[in-house]
Amino acid sequence: MRRAVIQGIGSYLPAKVLTNNDLAQFVDTSDEWIVERTGIRERRIAADGETTCHLAVAAARAALADAGIGADAIDLIVLATSTPDNTFPATATSVQAELGMTRGAAFDVQAVCSGFVYALSVADAMVRAGGAERALVIGAETFSRILDWSDRTTCVLFGDGAGAVVLEAQEGQGSVADRGVLATRLHSDGRHKDKLYVDGGPSSTQTVGHLRMEGKEVFKHAVINIASVMGETLADAGLTAEDVDWVVPHQANKRILDSTAKRFGIPESKVVLTVDVHGNTSAASIPLALDVAVKDGRIRRGDLVLMEAMGGGFTWGAALVRW
Ligand code: COA
Repeated sequence: MRRAVIQGIGSYLPAKVLTNNDLAQFVDTSDEWIVERTGIRERRIAADGETTCHLAVAAARAALADAGIGADAIDLIVLATSTPDNTFPATATSVQAELGMTRGAAFDVQAVCSGFVYALSVADAMVRAGGAERALVIGAETFSRILDWSDRTTCVLFGDGAGAVVLEAQEGQGSVADRGVLATRLHSDGRHKDKLYVDGGPSSTQTVGHLRMEGKEVFKHAVINIASVMGETLADAGLTAEDVDWVVPHQANKRILDSTAKRFGIPESKVVLTVDVHGNTSAASIPLALDVAVKDGRIRRGDLVLMEAMGGGFTWGAALVRW
């Protein structure tokens, strides 16, 4: 059975650190409030002129180096982002050009904070169907550009960054012992589209707009939807929560991660947490967290890794991967 195996991982964070105390200089907030409600202590902010493409290329280069291959070996780029450099073309094509890759296909996927799980699921399906041999799956965001910096209820939550993985087609046995993507599940429910959205766009206002959110509603739905899609994905593979070595969640809020883990019966020690230093980097947060846990030696070859996310739309999903 053809499987899409993760052969390399990399990430990139902009140099500028914005702490909670820095934020308290220009909005009515405090380090204490932000840490208590979200677990966030600091986030990174892209420099002037540093775009989503730049972040994505840096993460992609690191993932390619980790896989020990060049961009010429890649025949698919799927980039998850809600903060593209331009309305079109897809930022993935700019990444493709920067990497010097001239064959294959490159496109963006837009599922906000669920973007990386969506992109991984799409790339996995294409690799398994024979449509690609090696794919770069990237999550990259510059959310600092769509925040209303006078709105303390949203501007304290988000940050910029990028992460990428290299997927490679390999033959597996068709069992859950195989390396690679074992199962993915995607969901959306557009009835909730006004609970987390950006109030601008090319066809509506001809502006970029700013992020708007009903925080409590998002929180409530996130815990329910994430726990349920984690269960569905494991059931698809015939596995249970006890089989999971690591949960790598979308890093939105420590309280959401704690509540979900509790509801799902996974100990906190198995949950990779980076929201304290990254904030919510939307589609970039899962590959950023994965990279931290792989580089510090927690996630090892053969481990069963469950990724999950929920975002605007609402969209939500999970992916089960044997590392
Ligand atoms: N600093 C200080 N006070 C703040 C604040 C900030 N940054 N943001 C909001 N407040 C205030 C509110 O104005 C409110 O004050 P009031 O009681 O005088 O009206 C008070 O804190 C409580 O606000 P509330 O919205 O009820 O807080 P909360 O406990 O729901 O926490 C969130 C707010 C945003 C942290 C929480 O709802 C949340 O995490 N939601 C999910 C958000 C998310 O993860 N989104 C992305 C998903 S991909």
